[in-house]
Amino acid sequence: MTRTRTASEIEHARAVRAMFSGIAGRYDLLNHLLSANIDKRWRRRLRERLADVLAKSDALVLDVACGTGDLSIELKRDADARVIGTDFCRPMLAVAQDKTSEIPFVEGDAMRLGFGDDTFDAVTIAFGLRNLSNFADGLAELHRVLKPGGTLAVLEFSTPVLPGFRGLFNFYFARILPRIGGFVSGERGAYEYLPDSVSKFPDQKRLAELMERTGFVSVGFDNLTGGIAAIHYGLKG
Ligand SMILES: C[S@@+](CC[C@H](N)C(=O)[O-])C[C@H]1O[C@@H](n2cnc3c(N)ncnc32)[C@H](O)[C@@H]1O
Repeated sequence: MTRTRTASEIEHARAVRAMFSGIAGRYDLLNHLLSANIDKRWRRRLRERLADVLAKSDALVLDVACGTGDLSIELKRDADARVIGTDFCRPMLAVAQDKTSEIPFVEGDAMRLGFGDDTFDAVTIAFGLRNLSNFADGLAELHRVLKPGGTLAVLEFSTPVLPGFRGLFNFYFARILPRIGGFVSGERGAYEYLPDSVSKFPDQKRLAELMERTGFVSVGFDNLTGGIAAIHYGLKG
């Protein structure tokens, strides 16, 4: 059963929604600029990981916290499976829906998805889990809507594995990125929140452990670009 959210969790969700509403129009541009287009390659890797499910015409895939829809669209590329995107920020969804009519984008909160238990063959969440007010409860909700044996794939910023590279990346992320992001979007707070939220997010090992505690089995992860990001995956046991 879903527990009642605390006042601080409700306030966190409100602030996150407001923040993404403020940057929706510039979100894609900044994503590609700040990552030198590497984000596209990461989404492609996630699609490749789900290739078996995506090839099935009777499969149903949910992309949670889909934002402006880039992962949903990447998943649907050449796929026979049906893909649905969901997010709780209308301005982000409006950008997504403008890009394609092939995918339904529906408004919804990742912490209380409007879908029944055991519905999806795969659930994805890219750069979304870190923004939820409670990671464990968010994972439990993703687990709930998956069919038994269905796959969860989480693409998220993570912890670079080489110490020297980690220092360089942290400097870019904490010092350079907020300036460029703030300048281009006019919303510096959103690009200060990004490194802050990444620093509070579990590293590869701890996220894998959390997934196992939530009930996922065959849990693993692939580091991307030296661990700047990682794809975590697991099956609903
Ligand atoms: C960094 S964006 C990622 C968007 C997209 N998945 C991508 O790969 O570019 C994070 C998204 O998570 C959404 N989000 C955050 N908390 C959410 C929640 N509780 N329910 C639904 N969406 C949420 C935000 O509205 C935002 O669109």
